[in-house]
Amino acid sequence: MHVTTIEDTFAAWREAARQALAQRVAPEEIDWRIRDGARAAPSTLFDDKSATPFESAVCVEVLISRELAELLNDAALYRAPGRWAFLYRVLWRWHGGDRSVASPADSDGARLHKMAKAVRRAKHDMIAYLRFRLRDASHDTPTPDLPEYVAWYEPEHDVLAWSAEHFARRMGRSTWLISTPDGAAWWDGSALRVERRRAPSADLACTTADEAERLWLAYYRNTFNPARLNETALEQHMPVRFWKGLPEGRLIPSLISEAKSGAQRVAQASSVGMLGGKSVSVDAHSAQPMRQHLSTLDACRHCELWQHATQAVDGIGPDDARIMLIGEQPGDHEDLAGKPFVGPAGRLLDVALQRAGLSRDGLYLTNAVKHFKWTLRGKRRLHKTAAQQEIDACGYWLERELQRVRPAVVVTLGATALSALLHEKVNLSDWTGRTLNVDDMRVVATYHPSYALRQQHDEARERVLAAIIGALTRARDLSEAVGERQHAPD
Ligand code: URA
Repeated sequence: MHVTTIEDTFAAWREAARQALAQRVAPEEIDWRIRDGARAAPSTLFDDKSATPFESAVCVEVLISRELAELLNDAALYRAPGRWAFLYRVLWRWHGGDRSVASPADSDGARLHKMAKAVRRAKHDMIAYLRFRLRDASHDTPTPDLPEYVAWYEPEHDVLAWSAEHFARRMGRSTWLISTPDGAAWWDGSALRVERRRAPSADLACTTADEAERLWLAYYRNTFNPARLNETALEQHMPVRFWKGLPEGRLIPSLISEAKSGAQRVAQASSVGMLGGKSVSVDAHSAQPMRQHLSTLDACRHCELWQHATQAVDGIGPDDARIMLIGEQPGDHEDLAGKPFVGPAGRLLDVALQRAGLSRDGLYLTNAVKHFKWTLRGKRRLHKTAAQQEIDACGYWLERELQRVRPAVVVTLGATALSALLHEKVNLSDWTGRTLNVDDMRVVATYHPSYALRQQHDEARERVLAAIIGALTRARDLSEAVGERQHAPD
């Protein structure tokens, strides 16, 4: 067995490999070892006394394709134990005439391509995600050779030297230092020095957010659109491991959490409101949440629906209302306005209420589900029926409203409302027009106003509307009867 101790560089390996090829030493006969210490002396072979050295330092000219040369160059920067032995095996096979070794279809070839690809990615990342910061010179004892800019970066592979050359070409005469966990690169404005040792931490201290960085952070914050946040895409584009080295990386977690809570409302309200092809009949003022204090409902995470809604929509009306109307869930308009029944269904409901001799002000209006569930069709957010699981999850809030308001009569508008009240999925046609007792409430089940709006023919629409008006009239009569009983002398 030949033990070959080399400096951990491509140049050293190449020289040793050419000598080994010249002497026809098969891959399995070489034990590749890395010289310890900082910058090693020039590559040396045959320095292990217990090993059989190569007989002489004769080299052989190895002709390889440009593609293989590039693959070897990149793969040599791949951090993995045994990389030199593996590269030698590739070279050996090529030298022996086996061209398939450079093909991704070959198992060694596939590994080689994978290594090279990972290194190219690491090169790209280092250039894209390394940030220089201005050193705060006010802390220095005057030392002329301290760099103006410093950067800390943790590359995944050995791409420091490569990227240092890249920065040296681009940063003119500005002086800088890049430090990594296992090496550092200095540029003094004219010469580049790359060393396999970490820069003293003092060199990295005293950095300051310069004006450009402050500007960049302000720009980043202002152009971050919470409504368009796609965490997966963001993390694919800028993997989390780079965040700590980037000035904006420190902003991202808070921007994400803001986007998920408050800021999302505002941004989504305005961006959805501005979409072409649909009109939103709420003005800018009423499109903002009107509540003075955020209720605990705003923090509801009982199901997933909160994630895509602008806000939770709480019930509205006097706490001593004798009639409670329960709808299905907020629609697009309600989601933006933060109030129930302010869109087209709400307008039809107003018509029905008026014809039934009821005033909205005296009623408590709420929904079985408090967050808007929708699906995107083109640029429109279309209502999607809530699943029974979501209705059940939201039951907690409806129960609280019922406990607080204690209505004498409840009108359920549509199947979802009735299912919520009865705690089971029901078929509305079994119940429409009927009055039932639930706890100590009289419950009148009827259609949802949207159902009337969806009817194609005027006649059908009028029929559904008439049924709703009938149910509301019944509710009014029932509530009056209960009220009379309550106020009748004993
Ligand atoms: N439909 C509902 O069920 N509730 C609303 O608040 C609006 C439309």
